[in-house]
Amino acid sequence: MSNPLLSSSATLLAIESSCDDTAAAVIRDNRLRSSVVSSQLVHERYGGVVPEVASRAHQRMIVETVNAALERADAGRDTLDAIAVTHGPGLAGSLMVGVSFAKAMALGLDVPLIGVNHIEGHIYSVFTEQKGPRYPFLCLVVSGGHTQLMLVEEPLKHKLLGRTRDDAAGEAFDKIAKLFGLEYPGGPVIDRLAKAGDPTFHRFPRSRPDRYDFSFSGLKTSVLYYLNAMPESERTRMVKEHVADLCASVQEAVVETLVSAMKDAVEETGVEHVAIVGGVSANSRLREAASAMADQVDVQLHVPHSRYCTDNAAMIATAGLLKLGRGERSPLTLTPDPSLSL
Ligand code: KG4
Ligand code: ZN
Repeated sequence: MSNPLLSSSATLLAIESSCDDTAAAVIRDNRLRSSVVSSQLVHERYGGVVPEVASRAHQRMIVETVNAALERADAGRDTLDAIAVTHGPGLAGSLMVGVSFAKAMALGLDVPLIGVNHIEGHIYSVFTEQKGPRYPFLCLVVSGGHTQLMLVEEPLKHKLLGRTRDDAAGEAFDKIAKLFGLEYPGGPVIDRLAKAGDPTFHRFPRSRPDRYDFSFSGLKTSVLYYLNAMPESERTRMVKEHVADLCASVQEAVVETLVSAMKDAVEETGVEHVAIVGGVSANSRLREAASAMADQVDVQLHVPHSRYCTDNAAMIATAGLLKLGRGERSPLTLTPDPSLSL
């Protein structure tokens, strides 16, 4: 099987609101027709996502975001065959907005409702507007909320090989960027600054507590201790002078940890295709190191188009269509599950 999308002429609307992006997308005749993401910039001033602020912003944005996705796809409401929606994991208040909206639409239009797990969405983002990997494939899901290594045995059949025991990789980037006085979200900023830095400037710890499990809170603490060991004036000068080197060193620690686990899992499972998905899969050094690893062990690496790495509804549409084709339906009693697992 090369592509999980069963041939389908269905017109499907997907909605994603699990964190701080309000997103909607339309797939018709197996092709993505629109993907709209309204990012909530309001959180920048707080240095992180404020759940209450996020759910209110989703409420303000959802109608125009869905309308924009329908308009760009040139799809009238009456042409919709199904509504897919992220129902977890995520922030309860944020999920509630998308789920309630999707339920109301499915009820009003009398079309099937399909609940999609957000992680499942990220996994299938690697099939959005591209051929994607062959099954079985190894999938590293790395975002602000999740870091998991999965074996995708066949469409919608996943086996968890390992996960972070504390912070997610993106969360570590964001928290460490804050320690360097950089803006939120820190991941893309670290990526950008690290390009001019020396990754060997300081060796921060690489932690894999067990087989495919990760731990990133120790990395954050070690950066904090490293900075706090200096008198304040020296610290300020050092961070200013060496911010690129610090970013490159932190990024190298995260990337090396992730890629070494992937390499071990390739060798153990014997898969021929691997994928990296989620916000952190946009990281240029991660893509470069994973590609070198893939060449070394002779597997094919797949990453989503950069616009589908961070949260979006196109990935929910891709997973939703797959579920629709397999006859999966959710009841109209569907409720958000903030800690939904795969
Ligand atoms: O997938 P996503 O949008 O949301 C979650 O499901 O969590 O991922 C957001 C995370 C943030 O932590 C952000 O800093 C990180 O992805 N991120 C990056 C890059 N772009 C986004 N981290 C490192 N390098 C990047 N280029
Ligand atoms: Zn996500």
